[in-house]
Amino acid sequence: MKLVMFGPTGMIGSRILNEALSRGHSLTAITRDPSRFSVEHEKLAVVAGNVFDPANAVFQTLLPTMIQLGILTEKVDK
Ligand SMILES: NC(=O)c1ccc[n+]([C@@H]2O[C@H](COP(=O)([O-])OP(=O)(O)OC[C@H]3O[C@@H](n4cnc5c(N)ncnc54)[C@H](OP(=O)(O)O)[C@@H]3O)[C@@H](O)[C@H]2O)c1
Repeated sequence: MKLVMFGPTGMIGSRILNEALSRGHSLTAITRDPSRFSVEHEKLAVVAGNVFDPANAVFQTLLPTMIQLGILTEKVDK
């Protein structure tokens, strides 16, 4: 399965990320600052993005065709 994930650097999200990769899924991890993301895996792609920026290219290109996992600290309606 191809997954897109927000919150991969977080306490909960990092565990979900590891579990998804260990189960063989391909995962695109979205973080506001990829330079702080240290996990490397052949099925992992890391891209910059902010969930509050729907005009971001991430939303335009990835979300229509993939399952999304969102693990954030902030509420989406802020
Ligand atoms: N920890 C717990 O025990 C616990 C228990 C129950 C429920 N929860 C809930 O689960 C959620 C995650 O908790 P956590 O402890 O894993 O939080 P955390 O460690 O603070 O991680 C938060 C994640 O949210 C991402 N994020 C925040 N704002 C973002 C934005 N605007 N765009 C994209 N990504 C954004 C951060 O990514 P970047 O900084 O890399 O962009 C980070 O990966 C929260 O809603 C929390 O209330 C947590």
